[in-house]
Amino acid sequence: MYKMSMMPMFTAEAIHECVEAMAGQIRRNYEFDVVVGILTGSFIFVSDLCRYFPRQDLQIKFIKASSYCDEMRPGELEVSGLDLKELAGKRVLLIDDILDTGRTLKCLSEKIRAAGAAAVKTCALLDKPSRREVEFQADFTGFKIEDKFVVGYGLDYAGEYRTFPDIWSLEEE
Ligand code: XMP
Repeated sequence: MYKMSMMPMFTAEAIHECVEAMAGQIRRNYEFDVVVGILTGSFIFVSDLCRYFPRQDLQIKFIKASSYCDEMRPGELEVSGLDLKELAGKRVLLIDDILDTGRTLKCLSEKIRAAGAAAVKTCALLDKPSRREVEFQADFTGFKIEDKFVVGYGLDYAGEYRTFPDIWSLEEE
């Protein structure tokens, strides 16, 4: 069984400051046509971040990525919910809630490039560098964290905790 930590790891206020700072950094460094959010954990981060990009022409899309259960393709992802051909010729900002082993963002960004995107840059609110299993660094990251399981602000444990405004770590009881 797990319980929430005594104190939030990041309060809603700290998260919002971080998101605003990330938006500024992205705006200064990358011109993009489409935001692609990875479901489900990034949905709150994507909606907060995108409000710092008030542009009539900005497209928002979401994609679902799940690991293959097939042992012949370890680390490969099955994507659904978006036809990657829609991204051909576009400059894409690919967004996840958390960068952990690195497999999701690495594999998805490669697939989007292979589908003919003009450019792909990646963004994650949280980064757990000690957990990396493949060589990968996102272009834009918010908080670096230790190897703890976190919930809230869109992140879940077994589908729960997503709507908590702060980010909490879960600890074994
Ligand atoms: P990889 O390992 O591919 O994983 O970089 C990224 C995905 O793993 C999930 N993940 C978490 N979800 N709390 C969560 O709620 C966590 O601490 C956590 N660590 C990894 C998440 O779905 C992310 O998109």
